[in-house]
Amino acid sequence: DETFDFVVIANRLPVDRDMSTEPPTWRTSPGGLVTAVAPVMQQNRGAWVGWAGATDQEFDPFDLDDMHLVPVPLSSEEIVRYYEGFSNATLWPLYHDLIVHPEYHRTWWDDYVRVNERFAERAARVASPGATVWVHDYQLQLVPALLREARPDLAIGFFNHIPFPGWELFAQLPWRSQVLEGLLGADLIGFQRAADAANFRRAVRINLNRSTKDTAITVPTADGERESHVAHARAFPISIDTEELDQLAREERIVARAREIRSELGDPDVLMLGVDRLDYTKGIRHRIKAFGELLNDGSILPGEATLVQIATPSRERIEQYRQIRDDVELAVGRINGEHSTLDHQAVHYFHHSYPRDEMAAYYLAADVMLVTALRDGMNLVAKEYVACRTDDDGVLVLSEFAGAAEQLTQAVTVNPYDISGLKARILMAVRMPDAERRRRMRAMRRKLRTEDVRRWSADFLGTLRGLAAARQGTA
Ligand code: G6P
Repeated sequence: DETFDFVVIANRLPVDRDMSTEPPTWRTSPGGLVTAVAPVMQQNRGAWVGWAGATDQEFDPFDLDDMHLVPVPLSSEEIVRYYEGFSNATLWPLYHDLIVHPEYHRTWWDDYVRVNERFAERAARVASPGATVWVHDYQLQLVPALLREARPDLAIGFFNHIPFPGWELFAQLPWRSQVLEGLLGADLIGFQRAADAANFRRAVRINLNRSTKDTAITVPTADGERESHVAHARAFPISIDTEELDQLAREERIVARAREIRSELGDPDVLMLGVDRLDYTKGIRHRIKAFGELLNDGSILPGEATLVQIATPSRERIEQYRQIRDDVELAVGRINGEHSTLDHQAVHYFHHSYPRDEMAAYYLAADVMLVTALRDGMNLVAKEYVACRTDDDGVLVLSEFAGAAEQLTQAVTVNPYDISGLKARILMAVRMPDAERRRRMRAMRRKLRTEDVRRWSADFLGTLRGLAAARQGTA
């Protein structure tokens, strides 16, 4: 079997098997992780180990672009317990401030362990001696320690794309020490924000009774006799391929499409845009409520503004995701019932995903971008909007609970739980003078030009390789 010097492991492959078409096709996987990690693969030819998004299907490894893809099969029961259950109904809500209640089930945990073992085993098989292996996200937190045990020669990195909760919340998890030990198998554990890394180190101190020195944690061997390695936990805020999006948004066909979108919407004075996976963490309801109240108040006149909400289908079999869909669709229906006319619709709501080109055109067309997440690891949509504004125009309204707020400090920041505050910030965005809009947008664009996804992966991988070399030097 062919082996690789660079291996990425993530729950999803960058492509998803779409079984609804005849014949089945491969399409781009949803979510920010794939958006960010795919460009990294263009620079490091390597293998990507992940699930192909289909149930009970075995696929042989195959090459795509410059990557070697290694599909990991999941049974329908594992999808229920490991993916929909432990990953997305236990960890996801627990790591996002308990916006909904996490459920704790031992059978889900058992499958989480089993599936993590399978991913680790596949990765161990495709990694060359001394390879760099980069494990991604909350679905695979046990993989670093499993890999370390099987392959002590590897440089092992882990990056958590979502928040890491404070101890007071994390302490609920019945398997909290196993999760911490799993992560500590890595040489380097990356988080979106310094606060997430600090939460992790504090959990290690309290729960495992281990001391930390700056970012370093000394990890003993499984028998506790010797030192295994030193793990480092710190922040590496993720980003986007700024240059590529900037180029795309300058293409004449995208600019023309942006104009066409506005005219198809009846050339509203103000076009507001929301783009999210349909997830309860994204604050879609709060945003729609604020918009509805602004129309009810008469603060925004009917006919003055249109809100386009693109909500990509996500995790549709999980109860709380069905609930948020119902809630959002009810709210949209109410507003349109009250405020739409034959020639003006208050809210345009789309429950599907669009190709990248179409998204770039929407970003370019929107006067105000609403990112009102209740909690979000980073939120790459906010950064994509800025990257597409080649005209230096447009206002970003950004939740202070999204990691992106730490980099995009010139956005109009908002606490989405504060509906009156949210209304005031939306109005401020709508009425912002031209010069101020441009000043803010230019500053954010300047920042993203250097703080892009290349810089993120180079920082992470450079640090990881340095740590692994030092470890081998002293071993
Ligand atoms: C977020 C997570 C990713 C996940 C993506 C899509 O970005 O951080 O790990 O892949 O959402 O969610 P899904 O459950 O469809 O993979």
